[in-house]
Amino acid sequence: MDIFKEIKKEHDEFKKIAEKISPTSERAIKTRTDSFAKLKLELTAHHEAEEEVLVPVLKENKATRQMGIEIVEEHNILKKLMEELESLSVDDETWIVKFKVFNEIMEKHTDEEEHEISKKTHEEFEQKRLDELGDLFEAEDKKIEKQLKQKKQE
Ligand SMILES: [Fe+2]
Ligand SMILES: [Fe+2]
Repeated sequence: MDIFKEIKKEHDEFKKIAEKISPTSERAIKTRTDSFAKLKLELTAHHEAEEEVLVPVLKENKATRQMGIEIVEEHNILKKLMEELESLSVDDETWIVKFKVFNEIMEKHTDEEEHEISKKTHEEFEQKRLDELGDLFEAEDKKIEKQLKQKKQE
């Protein structure tokens, strides 16, 4: 399947989890804790798989190179915010405000991947290659998620 279809499928899942977290109050400790842990794990695997499979391809081509670099920079910002959220208590009044900031950046980032970056990449690369990359991405994402889950249990 086209790599951008695979990516979009996961973005939709992240949005669903974020929508569950956003309206919670400070009393919803379990919902916040569990949903955020799930989001962090899945998003981390997604970012790593994008950096392994998609970013090197974007960097091959002059027309998409900057987009590849931008993806990594935005992942770094999201990673930092997730670490801050994790170190903060979920019933702290700052937590949900920080989560909203994180969510706004995540939405902008996923939107860019689904639209501008997907469009430009489709112009520059053959469909066959994007389909092959989709299969690679799916396999890599599953592998990394499994590793992260194992690491968490250790
Ligand atoms: Fe990304
Ligand atoms: Fe993505």
